[in-house]
Amino acid sequence: MQLKQAVDSAFQRFIAAEVPSPRLNAEILMTFTLGRDRSYLFAHPERELSPEEQYRYEEVITQRAQGCPTQYITGHQEFWGLDLLVSPAVLIPRPETEHVVETVLELVKEHYRENHARIRIVDVGTGSGCISLALATELPQAEIHACDISDEALEMARVNAARLGLGSRVLIRKSDLLSVYEQDTFDFVVSNPPYVGDGEADKVQKQVKDFEPKIAVFSGADGMDIYRRLLPQSAAILRFGGWFVTEIGFSIEEKTKRLMRGWEDVRTTADLQGIPRVIAARKPAAQKSATMKVALP
Ligand SMILES: C[S@@+](CC[C@H](N)C(=O)[O-])C[C@H]1O[C@@H](n2cnc3c(N)ncnc32)[C@H](O)[C@@H]1O
Repeated sequence: MQLKQAVDSAFQRFIAAEVPSPRLNAEILMTFTLGRDRSYLFAHPERELSPEEQYRYEEVITQRAQGCPTQYITGHQEFWGLDLLVSPAVLIPRPETEHVVETVLELVKEHYRENHARIRIVDVGTGSGCISLALATELPQAEIHACDISDEALEMARVNAARLGLGSRVLIRKSDLLSVYEQDTFDFVVSNPPYVGDGEADKVQKQVKDFEPKIAVFSGADGMDIYRRLLPQSAAILRFGGWFVTEIGFSIEEKTKRLMRGWEDVRTTADLQGIPRVIAARKPAAQKSATMKVALP
């Protein structure tokens, strides 16, 4: 079979299976099968596929038609211009999460000017490492920590850090939220935590529900369990005037803000679709912090 015929046939199968962006997916999976870039597909439409190439293409097409995300098949996802490795052990980094990175960088610019050397940041629930690795590339002088409760996610974050030459820049540890940082203080706690309610599984895309790690997606009956623990823990370990920056899910802005009694400068950033996506809030100066809910990890 010729290359173009194989891609066209995968395209038709993806339409029938309601795979989003069917043409693009068929092409990406062909470039993955052949180990070539997309320009090769257009330059050699009549190239005959070997039986082995046909077999491998058929295998990945079947996986994708059954719902497996393309990123778990190819093992790669780009985030903040970085090529990250991903596996079913980690959430696939989403473009919306880049707003978390942007928010931190804006706050650094606003409040720390050029003095980045003393900035200490911890990324809670790092998954692939996407947020902390992006921050490490943008803030070369900052001290960056990252944690996760999943051993497999930690392994993936470490591999990504090493591949990007950032292994010594991001200190990665296993921790249940901030529990191992009890003796530390930070300028920023950043997170994209799980925030979908257990009862809301039917509102989540099938691909997320069936293929992405449950621990990365669900957080108790109403999706707020992690925020309920993480906010008081963050209040305990942030420096006075330090920032909590978190991604939020569709429709939980108000519920999250209600947990922020005593925090200052609470601000929300919307994503490109206008959906509230990131909340940032500041721990007040010493005399006012008494009004906050604080819990040592
Ligand atoms: C929504 S994913 C985010 C991953 C990555 N930061 C991103 O933005 O793509 C949430 C992550 O939190 C981790 N997690 C869940 N519960 C946790 C806990 N109690 N302590 C630390 N990490 C946790 C999961 O393993 C998962 O990697």
